[in-house]
Amino acid sequence: VIPSLKEVYADRFAIGAAVSPQTIVTQKELLAAHYGSLTAENEMKPVSVQPEEGRFTFEDADRIARFAEEHGMQMRGHTLAWHNQTPDWMFVDGQGQPAGRDLVLQRMKDHIGAVVGRYKDRIKVWDVVNEAVSDEGPQLLRPSKWLETAGEEFIRRAFEYAHEADRDALLFYNDYNECHPDKRDRIHRLLKSLKEQGTPVHGMGMQGHWSLQRPSADEIRAAVELYASLDLQLHITELDVSVFEWDDKRTDLLEPTAEMLEAQERRYEEIFGLLREYSGVITSVTFWGAADDYTWLDHFPVRSRKNWPFLFDRNHQPKGSFWKVARL
Ligand code: G3I
Repeated sequence: VIPSLKEVYADRFAIGAAVSPQTIVTQKELLAAHYGSLTAENEMKPVSVQPEEGRFTFEDADRIARFAEEHGMQMRGHTLAWHNQTPDWMFVDGQGQPAGRDLVLQRMKDHIGAVVGRYKDRIKVWDVVNEAVSDEGPQLLRPSKWLETAGEEFIRRAFEYAHEADRDALLFYNDYNECHPDKRDRIHRLLKSLKEQGTPVHGMGMQGHWSLQRPSADEIRAAVELYASLDLQLHITELDVSVFEWDDKRTDLLEPTAEMLEAQERRYEEIFGLLREYSGVITSVTFWGAADDYTWLDHFPVRSRKNWPFLFDRNHQPKGSFWKVARL
Protein backbone atom coordinates (compact mmCIF):
# COMPACT_ATOMS: atom_id res chain seq x y z
CA VAL A 1 0.00 0.00 0.00
CA ILE A 2 1.21 3.47 -0.82
CA PRO A 3 0.62 5.81 2.12
CA SER A 4 -0.84 9.23 1.42
CA LEU A 5 1.83 11.89 1.86
CA LYS A 6 -0.58 14.48 3.19
CA GLU A 7 -1.88 11.99 5.75
CA VAL A 8 1.59 10.95 6.86
CA TYR A 9 2.38 14.63 7.46
CA ALA A 10 -1.02 15.69 8.81
CA ASP A 11 0.36 16.40 12.31
CA ARG A 12 3.44 18.17 10.92
CA PHE A 13 2.63 20.47 8.01
CA ALA A 14 0.45 20.72 4.91
CA ILE A 15 1.82 19.06 1.75
CA GLY A 16 1.17 20.97 -1.47
CA ALA A 17 1.87 20.99 -5.20
CA ALA A 18 1.97 23.63 -7.93
CA VAL A 19 -0.46 22.84 -10.74
CA SER A 20 -1.67 24.10 -14.12
CA PRO A 21 -4.97 23.67 -15.99
CA GLN A 22 -3.23 20.75 -17.74
CA THR A 23 -1.85 18.94 -14.69
CA ILE A 24 -5.11 19.06 -12.73
CA VAL A 25 -6.28 16.74 -15.51
CA THR A 26 -3.18 14.61 -16.21
CA GLN A 27 -2.18 14.29 -12.53
CA LYS A 28 -5.65 14.30 -11.05
CA GLU A 29 -5.48 11.03 -9.07
CA LEU A 30 -1.99 11.69 -7.78
CA LEU A 31 -2.92 15.18 -6.61
CA ALA A 32 -6.07 13.97 -4.89
CA ALA A 33 -4.22 11.17 -3.10
CA HIS A 34 -1.16 13.01 -1.79
CA TYR A 35 -1.53 16.79 -1.79
CA GLY A 36 -3.69 18.89 0.51
CA SER A 37 -2.77 22.32 -0.85
CA LEU A 38 -2.43 23.70 -4.39
CA THR A 39 -0.65 26.67 -5.91
CA ALA A 40 -1.37 27.86 -9.46
CA GLU A 41 2.01 27.71 -11.20
CA ASN A 42 1.23 30.67 -13.50
CA GLU A 43 -2.50 31.29 -13.63
CA MET A 44 -2.91 33.78 -10.79
CA LYS A 45 0.03 35.96 -11.76
CA PRO A 46 -0.69 39.54 -12.88
CA VAL A 47 -0.13 38.92 -16.60
CA SER A 48 -2.52 35.95 -16.47
CA VAL A 49 -5.39 37.63 -14.61
CA GLN A 50 -5.20 41.21 -15.86
CA PRO A 51 -3.50 41.27 -19.27
CA GLU A 52 -5.00 44.71 -20.04
CA GLU A 53 -6.07 47.40 -17.64
CA GLY A 54 -9.47 46.51 -16.23
CA ARG A 55 -9.84 43.34 -18.33
CA PHE A 56 -9.69 40.42 -15.93
CA THR A 57 -9.27 36.87 -17.19
CA PHE A 58 -9.90 34.46 -14.34
CA GLU A 59 -10.95 31.35 -16.29
CA ASP A 60 -7.78 29.29 -15.74
CA ALA A 61 -7.37 30.49 -12.16
CA ASP A 62 -11.00 29.66 -11.44
CA ARG A 63 -10.59 26.19 -12.91
CA ILE A 64 -7.76 25.49 -10.48
CA ALA A 65 -9.63 27.02 -7.54
CA ARG A 66 -12.67 24.88 -8.37
CA PHE A 67 -10.53 21.73 -8.54
CA ALA A 68 -9.09 22.55 -5.11
CA GLU A 69 -12.52 23.15 -3.68
CA GLU A 70 -13.96 19.94 -5.13
CA HIS A 71 -11.13 17.97 -3.54
CA GLY A 72 -11.21 19.76 -0.18
CA MET A 73 -7.75 21.24 -0.74
CA GLN A 74 -6.41 24.55 0.53
CA MET A 75 -4.73 26.98 -1.84
CA ARG A 76 -1.73 29.28 -1.67
CA GLY A 77 -2.26 32.36 -3.81
CA HIS A 78 0.71 33.20 -6.05
CA THR A 79 1.59 36.03 -6.65
CA LEU A 80 0.60 39.74 -6.47
CA ALA A 81 3.69 41.93 -6.88
CA TRP A 82 6.60 40.56 -8.90
CA HIS A 83 9.13 41.89 -11.44
CA ASN A 84 8.25 39.07 -13.85
CA GLN A 85 5.00 38.03 -15.61
CA THR A 86 3.55 41.46 -14.91
CA PRO A 87 2.03 43.37 -17.84
CA ASP A 88 3.86 46.47 -19.10
CA TRP A 89 0.70 48.61 -19.07
CA MET A 90 0.89 48.81 -15.29
CA PHE A 91 3.96 51.03 -15.56
CA VAL A 92 3.05 53.29 -18.48
CA ASP A 93 0.70 56.30 -18.51
CA GLY A 94 -1.80 57.36 -21.20
CA GLN A 95 0.94 59.13 -23.17
CA GLY A 96 3.22 56.11 -23.24
CA GLN A 97 5.51 57.68 -20.65
CA PRO A 98 6.64 55.98 -17.43
CA ALA A 99 3.67 56.17 -15.05
CA GLY A 100 4.06 58.22 -11.88
CA ARG A 101 4.13 56.77 -8.41
CA ASP A 102 0.49 57.52 -7.55
CA LEU A 103 -0.87 55.92 -10.72
CA VAL A 104 1.27 52.80 -10.27
CA LEU A 105 0.24 52.37 -6.66
CA GLN A 106 -3.43 52.91 -7.54
CA ARG A 107 -3.16 50.17 -10.15
CA MET A 108 -1.44 47.90 -7.68
CA LYS A 109 -4.23 48.52 -5.20
CA ASP A 110 -6.93 47.82 -7.78
CA HIS A 111 -5.20 44.66 -8.95
CA ILE A 112 -4.62 43.25 -5.48
CA GLY A 113 -8.12 44.21 -4.36
CA ALA A 114 -9.69 42.42 -7.34
CA VAL A 115 -7.65 39.23 -7.09
CA VAL A 116 -7.56 38.80 -3.33
CA GLY A 117 -11.22 39.83 -3.14
CA ARG A 118 -12.32 37.29 -5.74
CA TYR A 119 -10.77 34.35 -3.90
CA LYS A 120 -11.41 35.59 -0.37
CA ASP A 121 -13.48 32.54 0.58
CA ARG A 122 -11.02 30.03 -0.85
CA ILE A 123 -7.51 31.42 -0.51
CA LYS A 124 -6.29 32.38 2.94
CA VAL A 125 -2.55 32.55 2.18
CA TRP A 126 -0.94 34.82 -0.42
CA ASP A 127 2.60 35.25 -1.72
CA VAL A 128 2.12 39.00 -1.79
CA VAL A 129 5.57 40.13 -2.88
CA ASN A 130 7.78 37.75 -4.83
CA GLU A 131 11.56 37.94 -5.30
CA ALA A 132 12.11 41.62 -4.53
CA VAL A 133 15.54 41.17 -2.93
CA SER A 134 18.71 41.46 -4.97
CA ASP A 135 20.84 38.37 -5.63
CA GLU A 136 23.91 40.51 -5.31
CA GLY A 137 24.77 43.26 -2.86
CA PRO A 138 25.37 45.88 -1.82
CA GLN A 139 21.90 47.06 -2.83
CA LEU A 140 19.00 45.47 -0.96
CA LEU A 141 16.39 45.36 -3.73
CA ARG A 142 16.60 44.07 -7.28
CA PRO A 143 16.02 46.59 -10.07
CA SER A 144 12.41 46.36 -11.30
CA LYS A 145 9.62 48.44 -12.78
CA TRP A 146 7.96 48.49 -9.37
CA LEU A 147 11.07 49.90 -7.74
CA GLU A 148 11.66 52.32 -10.61
CA THR A 149 8.16 53.78 -10.67
CA ALA A 150 6.92 53.49 -7.09
CA GLY A 151 10.13 53.35 -5.06
CA GLU A 152 10.90 50.99 -2.18
CA GLU A 153 7.54 51.57 -0.58
CA PHE A 154 5.92 49.34 -3.24
CA ILE A 155 6.67 46.40 -0.98
CA ARG A 156 4.96 47.78 2.11
CA ARG A 157 2.04 49.00 0.01
CA ALA A 158 1.45 45.59 -1.55
CA PHE A 159 1.08 44.04 1.90
CA GLU A 160 -1.21 46.85 3.06
CA TYR A 161 -3.49 46.52 0.03
CA ALA A 162 -3.68 42.74 0.44
CA HIS A 163 -4.51 43.17 4.11
CA GLU A 164 -7.26 45.67 3.28
CA ALA A 165 -8.72 43.22 0.76
CA ASP A 166 -8.79 40.32 3.24
CA ARG A 167 -8.14 40.97 6.91
CA ASP A 168 -7.85 37.25 7.72
CA ALA A 169 -5.43 36.23 4.99
CA LEU A 170 -1.88 35.25 5.91
CA LEU A 171 0.50 37.38 3.87
CA PHE A 172 3.89 36.05 2.76
CA TYR A 173 7.08 37.41 1.30
CA ASN A 174 8.47 34.72 -1.06
CA ASP A 175 11.99 34.34 -2.50
CA TYR A 176 14.62 31.96 -3.97
CA ASN A 177 18.31 31.53 -3.09
CA GLU A 178 16.78 32.03 0.30
CA CYS A 179 19.45 29.97 2.07
CA HIS A 180 22.43 31.68 0.47
CA PRO A 181 24.08 33.44 3.43
CA ASP A 182 24.32 36.91 1.82
CA LYS A 183 20.87 36.91 0.28
CA ARG A 184 19.41 35.37 3.43
CA ASP A 185 20.75 38.30 5.41
CA ARG A 186 19.33 40.80 2.91
CA ILE A 187 15.92 39.13 3.03
CA HIS A 188 16.10 39.20 6.81
CA ARG A 189 16.93 42.89 6.70
CA LEU A 190 13.92 43.61 4.48
CA LEU A 191 11.51 41.57 6.63
CA LYS A 192 12.81 43.12 9.83
CA SER A 193 12.30 46.61 8.53
CA LEU A 194 8.81 45.76 7.25
CA LYS A 195 7.87 44.44 10.68
CA GLU A 196 9.31 47.51 12.39
CA GLN A 197 7.11 49.69 10.19
CA GLY A 198 4.08 47.69 11.28
CA THR A 199 3.56 46.13 7.82
CA PRO A 200 1.05 43.25 7.81
CA VAL A 201 3.53 40.51 6.83
CA HIS A 202 2.94 37.16 8.48
CA GLY A 203 5.18 34.67 6.76
CA MET A 204 8.34 33.94 4.84
CA GLY A 205 8.09 31.70 1.79
CA MET A 206 11.32 29.81 1.21
CA GLN A 207 11.00 28.65 -2.39
CA GLY A 208 13.31 25.65 -2.06
CA HIS A 209 14.59 25.29 -5.64
CA TRP A 210 17.42 23.07 -4.45
CA SER A 211 19.79 20.51 -5.95
CA LEU A 212 21.49 17.33 -4.74
CA GLN A 213 24.28 19.38 -3.18
CA ARG A 214 23.08 22.88 -2.62
CA PRO A 215 22.23 24.54 -0.31
CA SER A 216 23.86 22.52 2.47
CA ALA A 217 21.76 21.26 5.36
CA ASP A 218 23.59 23.73 7.62
CA GLU A 219 22.65 26.61 5.32
CA ILE A 220 19.01 25.52 5.26
CA ARG A 221 18.98 25.26 9.03
CA ALA A 222 20.59 28.67 9.51
CA ALA A 223 18.06 30.29 7.16
CA VAL A 224 15.09 28.65 8.88
CA GLU A 225 16.34 29.81 12.27
CA LEU A 226 17.00 33.35 11.10
CA TYR A 227 13.59 33.85 9.45
CA ALA A 228 11.81 32.19 12.37
CA SER A 229 13.54 34.60 14.76
CA LEU A 230 11.36 37.35 13.25
CA ASP A 231 8.28 35.62 14.58
CA LEU A 232 7.07 34.69 11.09
CA GLN A 233 5.47 31.46 9.91
CA LEU A 234 7.59 29.65 7.37
CA HIS A 235 6.34 27.87 4.27
CA ILE A 236 8.47 25.95 1.83
CA THR A 237 6.67 27.16 -1.28
CA GLU A 238 8.33 25.73 -4.44
CA LEU A 239 10.35 22.68 -3.48
CA ASP A 240 12.17 20.64 -6.11
CA VAL A 241 15.50 18.80 -6.02
CA SER A 242 17.25 19.09 -9.37
CA VAL A 243 19.47 16.14 -10.25
CA PHE A 244 21.82 18.60 -11.99
CA GLU A 245 23.98 21.10 -10.20
CA TRP A 246 23.60 24.65 -11.42
CA ASP A 247 26.71 24.65 -13.61
CA ASP A 248 26.04 21.18 -15.10
CA LYS A 249 24.91 21.86 -18.68
CA ARG A 250 24.69 18.24 -19.88
CA THR A 251 21.77 17.56 -22.20
CA ASP A 252 22.36 13.94 -23.20
CA LEU A 253 20.59 12.04 -20.40
CA LEU A 254 17.29 10.38 -21.30
CA GLU A 255 16.88 8.88 -17.85
CA PRO A 256 18.36 9.79 -14.47
CA THR A 257 21.38 7.67 -13.53
CA ALA A 258 21.22 5.26 -10.59
CA GLU A 259 23.72 7.49 -8.77
CA MET A 260 21.49 10.53 -9.23
CA LEU A 261 18.46 8.72 -7.86
CA GLU A 262 20.38 7.39 -4.87
CA ALA A 263 21.79 10.82 -4.12
CA GLN A 264 18.29 12.26 -4.46
CA GLU A 265 16.97 9.75 -1.93
CA ARG A 266 19.62 10.72 0.60
CA ARG A 267 18.93 14.38 -0.10
CA TYR A 268 15.17 14.11 0.36
CA GLU A 269 15.74 12.16 3.56
CA GLU A 270 18.03 14.92 4.82
CA ILE A 271 15.66 17.71 3.80
CA PHE A 272 12.50 16.21 5.30
CA GLY A 273 14.35 15.16 8.47
CA LEU A 274 15.32 18.78 8.90
CA LEU A 275 11.89 20.18 8.00
CA ARG A 276 10.24 17.84 10.52
CA GLU A 277 12.45 19.22 13.27
CA TYR A 278 10.87 22.62 12.62
CA SER A 279 7.30 21.50 12.17
CA GLY A 280 6.03 24.06 14.69
CA VAL A 281 7.53 26.85 12.62
CA ILE A 282 7.21 25.40 9.11
CA THR A 283 3.49 24.96 8.54
CA SER A 284 3.36 24.07 4.84
CA VAL A 285 5.62 22.37 2.27
CA THR A 286 4.67 22.78 -1.40
CA PHE A 287 6.48 21.11 -4.30
CA TRP A 288 6.76 23.08 -7.57
CA GLY A 289 4.97 20.28 -9.40
CA ALA A 290 3.91 16.77 -8.40
CA ALA A 291 5.63 14.13 -10.58
CA ASP A 292 8.53 13.89 -13.02
CA ASP A 293 6.35 13.96 -16.15
CA TYR A 294 6.25 17.77 -15.88
CA THR A 295 8.57 20.29 -14.26
CA TRP A 296 9.59 23.84 -15.16
CA LEU A 297 13.17 22.50 -14.82
CA ASP A 298 12.68 20.73 -18.17
CA HIS A 299 13.18 24.21 -19.66
CA PHE A 300 15.52 25.81 -17.16
CA PRO A 301 18.40 26.65 -16.89
CA VAL A 302 18.97 24.58 -20.05
CA ARG A 303 16.24 24.45 -22.71
CA SER A 304 14.73 21.05 -23.46
CA ARG A 305 16.68 19.07 -20.92
CA LYS A 306 14.66 16.60 -18.91
CA ASN A 307 14.95 16.77 -15.12
CA TRP A 308 13.51 14.45 -12.45
CA PRO A 309 13.11 16.53 -9.30
CA PHE A 310 10.09 15.00 -7.51
CA LEU A 311 9.01 12.07 -5.31
CA PHE A 312 6.94 10.47 -8.09
CA ASP A 313 8.22 9.31 -11.47
CA ARG A 314 6.82 10.04 -14.93
CA ASN A 315 4.20 7.34 -14.47
CA HIS A 316 3.19 8.78 -11.10
CA GLN A 317 4.76 5.83 -9.26
CA PRO A 318 6.59 6.50 -5.99
CA LYS A 319 10.37 6.78 -6.35
CA GLY A 320 12.87 5.67 -3.71
CA SER A 321 12.78 9.28 -2.53
CA PHE A 322 9.07 8.97 -1.79
CA TRP A 323 9.71 6.13 0.66
CA LYS A 324 12.43 8.12 2.41
CA VAL A 325 9.98 10.97 2.94
CA ALA A 326 6.88 8.90 3.70
CA ARG A 327 8.52 6.70 6.37
CA LEU A 328 8.94 8.96 9.37
O1 G3I B 1 2.04 31.13 -22.35
C1 G3I B 1 3.10 30.82 -23.26
C2 G3I B 1 2.59 29.97 -24.39
O2 G3I B 1 1.65 30.70 -25.12
C3 G3I B 1 3.79 29.54 -25.27
O3 G3I B 1 3.35 28.64 -26.24
C4 G3I B 1 4.86 28.88 -24.44
C5 G3I B 1 6.11 28.54 -25.26
O4 G3I B 1 7.22 28.28 -24.43
O5 G3I B 1 5.25 29.76 -23.40
C6 G3I B 1 4.18 30.06 -22.52
O6 G3I B 1 4.59 30.87 -21.45
C7 G3I B 1 5.48 30.26 -20.53
C8 G3I B 1 4.77 30.18 -19.17
O7 G3I B 1 5.67 29.68 -18.22
C9 G3I B 1 3.55 29.29 -19.18
O8 G3I B 1 3.89 27.97 -19.48
C10 G3I B 1 6.71 31.11 -20.44
O9 G3I B 1 7.43 31.06 -21.65
C11 G3I B 1 7.61 30.63 -19.32
O10 G3I B 1 8.65 31.55 -19.13
C12 G3I B 1 6.80 30.53 -18.05
O11 G3I B 1 7.66 30.01 -17.05
C13 G3I B 1 7.18 30.11 -15.72
C14 G3I B 1 8.13 30.99 -14.91
O12 G3I B 1 7.71 31.00 -13.56
C15 G3I B 1 8.17 32.42 -15.44
O13 G3I B 1 9.13 33.13 -14.75
C16 G3I B 1 7.18 28.69 -15.15
O14 G3I B 1 6.17 27.93 -15.80
C17 G3I B 1 6.89 28.75 -13.65
O15 G3I B 1 7.12 27.47 -13.09
C18 G3I B 1 7.83 29.74 -12.98
O16 G3I B 1 7.51 29.79 -11.60
C19 G3I B 1 8.40 30.57 -10.80
C20 G3I B 1 7.58 31.12 -9.65
O17 G3I B 1 6.45 31.81 -10.12
C21 G3I B 1 8.42 32.04 -8.78
N1 G3I B 1 9.64 31.37 -8.34
C22 G3I B 1 10.42 30.74 -9.38
C23 G3I B 1 9.58 29.79 -10.20
C24 G3I B 1 10.41 29.03 -11.21
O18 G3I B 1 10.97 29.93 -12.16
